[in-house]
Amino acid sequence: MMSYPVSIAHASTLCVPGDKSIAHRVVMLASLASGTHVIHGVPDGLDVWATIRAFQAMGVLITTISDSCICIQGVGQYGLSPPKSPIDCGNSGTTMRLLAGLLVGQSFDAVLTGDASLSQRPMGRVVKPLQQMGAMIQSMPDGCAPLTITGGARLRNMQDTLLLPSAQVKSAILLAGLYAEGTTTLIESEPTRDHTERLMKAFGYAITTEGTTITLTPGKPSCLSSEVQIPGDISAAAFFVVAATLIPKMQLCIKNVGVNPKRMGFVEILRMMGASIEIVNFRQWGGERVADLQVQYAPLIGVKIPTTLVTSAIDEFPILFIAAARAKGRTTLSGAGELRVKESDRIRVMAEGLTKLGIEVEQTTDGMQIEGGCFLGGEVDSAHDHRVAMAFAIAGALAEAPIYIQHSEAIATSFPAFIASANQIGLKVRSKACQ
Ligand code: S3P
Repeated sequence: MMSYPVSIAHASTLCVPGDKSIAHRVVMLASLASGTHVIHGVPDGLDVWATIRAFQAMGVLITTISDSCICIQGVGQYGLSPPKSPIDCGNSGTTMRLLAGLLVGQSFDAVLTGDASLSQRPMGRVVKPLQQMGAMIQSMPDGCAPLTITGGARLRNMQDTLLLPSAQVKSAILLAGLYAEGTTTLIESEPTRDHTERLMKAFGYAITTEGTTITLTPGKPSCLSSEVQIPGDISAAAFFVVAATLIPKMQLCIKNVGVNPKRMGFVEILRMMGASIEIVNFRQWGGERVADLQVQYAPLIGVKIPTTLVTSAIDEFPILFIAAARAKGRTTLSGAGELRVKESDRIRVMAEGLTKLGIEVEQTTDGMQIEGGCFLGGEVDSAHDHRVAMAFAIAGALAEAPIYIQHSEAIATSFPAFIASANQIGLKVRSKACQ
């Protein structure tokens, strides 16, 4: 993919695909509720389709109604059928970790596999707590996938404090908790995205959250059919929020974006840096808050990013590093070691790419220091990481010469229409096929 410097700024309106995190969970919970569920705003990225295919492989009838609308015939909590072959989770950590929690409660065996990147990511974080609940689940000796699950385990409830701030781990335990004996109680040492809790509530499970304590009493969902509208993905919107902030005279309105309070870290960080981001037109879609984001150009300054904002901005660091690279002065991030075990080692891959583009950076074990400057053109490797590829595409709009991004096909993981959306708002991005 090639991203060119931009000369003319636009005032534009944009919509982004539906929220990936929410979509995975809706597919899972609708499949477990009996009845018909019509889901609007389903993102077309490969990650969510890995989850959809997994449920189809377990006998759930899921049909496509239009580009972003699917219909799920739920099979009930005990209605899934054994998959005939290993379930391929592709690049999707959310698919693998949440499915692990759900599958340990079934009566049948299953194997979860993933692509090269997912097969190197840590799975012990879900395997260990699930084993503590009595699950029969094994990873490879190095703690990675494939995961092998033996059905028919008798699950005990979990009552524990979650020390690793991970919504995927929390959600895996809650999904297993639906099949456990007794009430599962989790205390979060740090808040993480709470889409699972909100959706379980919406589907009629007995789940409550009080402060940092989540309590789930197993039982059947009371919701028998539903029509769900998935909000726009704030993690997809983030790329264009930064573009509009960095490109002089740009004005952008991104409509219908999910503004879950536990996903807003990058907005807070950008505002600390001087960004002009207004959140207007708040509404409620099901259990989630939705709003429009209005962004305009503003000069940025480097900041020390508070560690308290790391978890709620965890997926946005690739694009935040691009913002930092164009800010005046130094930006410092620490406490973000998790970035090294995402779809790529996002600290190393971003630091190497930024260095190639003429930016002064220093990696630390759990963060990075970035000295603001100007992007030269050049060639960078996205390491097959969708968010890294999109972040460097935004850098290309601000560079002195085009930026070529290797392995950018990974963008299809979450945002196949990214190039079209970027061009729609006046950026100039071309895929290799069009060069
Ligand atoms: C996700 C949670 C986060 C995030 C990932 C999606 C989710 O991971 O990075 O992209 O949908 O639960 P962790 O829970 O591992 O932090």
